Amino acid sequence: MPESRYDCIVIGSGPGGYVAAIRAAQLGMKTAVVEKEFIGGRCLNIACIPAKAVLRAADVLTEVREAGDFGIKVGEPEVDFAGVGAHRDKVVKTLTGGVSMLLKKNKIDVIEGVASLTKDGNVSVGDNEIEAGTVLLATGSIPKPVLNLEFGGRVLDTAAAWLLEEKPGKLAVIGAGASGTEIASAYGRLGTEVVLLEALPQILPLEDKDIARAAARELGKQMTIVTGANITKAEASDKGVTLDWGDGEQQFDYVAIAAGRAPDTEALGLKEAGIELLDNGQIKVDGHQKTSKDGVYAIGDIVPGPWLAHKASEEGVIAVEAAAGQDPHPLDHAAIPAVTFCYPQVASFGLTEEEAKEQGYDVAVGKIPMGAVGAPTVYGDRGGMIKIVGDKKYGEILGGHIVSAKAAELIEELVVAKELEGGYPEVARTIHPHPAFAEAVLEAARATDGWLIHG
Ligand code: NAI
Repeated sequence: MPESRYDCIVIGSGPGGYVAAIRAAQLGMKTAVVEKEFIGGRCLNIACIPAKAVLRAADVLTEVREAGDFGIKVGEPEVDFAGVGAHRDKVVKTLTGGVSMLLKKNKIDVIEGVASLTKDGNVSVGDNEIEAGTVLLATGSIPKPVLNLEFGGRVLDTAAAWLLEEKPGKLAVIGAGASGTEIASAYGRLGTEVVLLEALPQILPLEDKDIARAAARELGKQMTIVTGANITKAEASDKGVTLDWGDGEQQFDYVAIAAGRAPDTEALGLKEAGIELLDNGQIKVDGHQKTSKDGVYAIGDIVPGPWLAHKASEEGVIAVEAAAGQDPHPLDHAAIPAVTFCYPQVASFGLTEEEAKEQGYDVAVGKIPMGAVGAPTVYGDRGGMIKIVGDKKYGEILGGHIVSAKAAELIEELVVAKELEGGYPEVARTIHPHPAFAEAVLEAARATDGWLIHG
């Protein structure tokens, strides 16, 4: 049974919600999490985590297939898709079990149900009204359908794409943002014939142009990429999907729609509770994630900024620290890394070259192909590049952009350098281990500073 009063009630148990709840408990707040579906939220159950588990299976397949290049003889590997599903489900179970354990350890109550805000800034779940000192809204986002298609059957939203029980023979993916590119890269490498359709002129439209081009070069080996795609016909039946984007009608077993997401706020009763919204439906917050209503905070996909789990987690920490009377630093939006976990990975933060020029900086750019340093050749991962966008005036790092194996790990060095107020000249004089992929970051920093050695 839930208590009738909590210092902090968090609505939603995704990475933003559960991290915030633990931080609140650490700060001495009596805390509860309300969750309508599954502990760990969409990220752990049906999105980021199952996605990475399936993508990892594709990595393993490629590594086994390329083992001969390293003098290791193996037969032609086969995909046992049920086995891929079992790996995915085991990972999800382990990680969601971990979150439940952490909530328990921190004495956080979990209340099952759909929560909404009351006019007084409390929370109601079903017939129960629960008093809350602070409420943190962390309900995340849901996929948006396009082209008059309805999700279900052969029309997959991103979650259904990752939870498929059979490997499609032919799959169309609509939208080449992070979601669509990951789905296409996983199935394309697992042996499905994939067509990735993007309306805009480049895949990964938010990425720097050089980076999107380098990524497309590598991803084009796994799938057919169609940019500038104008899909004029989209029809689904029980058996499959017919699409036409100007090349005649094409049949697919499934279509995955990854054309964007919308905040999941309908059930919260925001308007009735007097919470101010932005024009796009997201919630207006200040630097401490506080909404227009006292005691109510919001984080993650329902507030401005990139739709990323790790951004939501940090916002959650900021929100509950502020609620506890502290004065935490607001989120630095220029230092939020975003990663697309296709192969090779694409990771970036801050400004693209184009954006930096538009904003009037005296721009310095350093670029280096991964093959210019030793480790990628040693490990058989030479594809991709690193690009740093800097400001010549103070040597500031304005943006970091990487296409490479391990890009998710490599980007963090540049993020940390920026956060600690170091610039590209400092990264260029920091000793990196040899031979390591990180040496490519060093070289990119040297290139930005005008003294590239390996290249
Ligand atoms: P998105 O909005 O980033 O990308 C959707 C893409 O679909 C856009 O490029 C758009 O031009 C295209 N599109 C829309 N309608 C279309 C149509 N009719 N035909 C062809 N193309 C069409 O949405 P996405 O990828 O679902 O991502 C949502 C958010 O979640 C993003 O902020 C993303 O960064 C985040 N995300 C992060 C991941 C990660 O951290 N690895 C993984 C997946 C999503």
